[in-house]
Amino acid sequence: MTDPTNLPDPMDPLDDLRTSAPARIEAAETVAELDAIEVETVGRQSPIALARRGLGAIEDPDARRNEGLRINELASALSDAIDRRRAELASAELAVALAEDRVDVTAPGRRIERGSVHLIQETMDEIVDIFVGLGYTMATGPEAESEFYNFTALNIPSTHPTRLESDTLYLDYGEEQEEVLLRTHTSPMQARYMEEHEPPVYVVVPGRAFRADVMDATHLPVFHQIEGLAVDENITFGDLKGTLAAFAKEFLGSETKVKFIPHYFPFTEPSAEMHAYAHGQWLELMGCGMVNPAVFEHVGYDPDRLSGFAFGMGAERLAMVRHGITDMRTLADADIRVLEQYR
Ligand code: PHE
Repeated sequence: MTDPTNLPDPMDPLDDLRTSAPARIEAAETVAELDAIEVETVGRQSPIALARRGLGAIEDPDARRNEGLRINELASALSDAIDRRRAELASAELAVALAEDRVDVTAPGRRIERGSVHLIQETMDEIVDIFVGLGYTMATGPEAESEFYNFTALNIPSTHPTRLESDTLYLDYGEEQEEVLLRTHTSPMQARYMEEHEPPVYVVVPGRAFRADVMDATHLPVFHQIEGLAVDENITFGDLKGTLAAFAKEFLGSETKVKFIPHYFPFTEPSAEMHAYAHGQWLELMGCGMVNPAVFEHVGYDPDRLSGFAFGMGAERLAMVRHGITDMRTLADADIRVLEQYR
């Protein structure tokens, strides 16, 4: 009688494993897939484990030993194949992970964009610096202002058109109507500063001002001014001209010519507009004049002993004159491409 264990037994589940498992192991695409195949083929519930458990039922010792050898041979052949495939897959997966995580240390770095001061702020800083160089100090004041400081203390009569709501942005604040407003110029600081300080006064005041204007090429509803005030004994219109001409040469170049054209402001008398010759034409730079004695009286300064001059200029306007900008809106746009041109 031939040894039944040497015959292919169609009912033997190990035969099926023997023929199909090696191909499945080779075909596994991932370590996880291979782990599952391992459990199925040589794990504790696998046909191999079941066959081992069945060995005790074989009575003939030779047959039992043969069957045991057959099982072990298959088990170790499959385990070897699994280990080999696992090593292959693990190194392939590692290669992929390394490729994905690769850092190109030779790639150029990403540049961090550096911010800078806005052209308007830069212009104001520069103007203030010029006056500080002439011995002035700097002060700032409130943007929400009372109608007293914005108008009355500056000798602007209650009938003056700038007080109209069409020009002035009033705030719904205070006891009476039209008592609080957004300052329409930085001039209220003239009165505030004199109230707080004994003469002599040499001060510049940069700050925001507001008017009920629609934005166009030459108007912004929010703009910036630099106010100046000099009060001392014996200050003359000559001092005004000399100071403001020196400023214009410092700001626009030492060859800059200026001229003074008579004008009217309630808080200065006489008043003028200073124009400068730039880019081939005369351009208005600022309003100015000798402090009106009525303003001294409002703040308790003695108009018989003191005299002085005041001036007010728009930072947007001066930046435009300096850089040849023709549309004021570009200064409010915050378009970085425009602003970068004036760095
Ligand atoms: N406050 C004036 C304006 O806004 C400018 C000015 C200031 C004129 C000081 C004279 C003196 O137009």
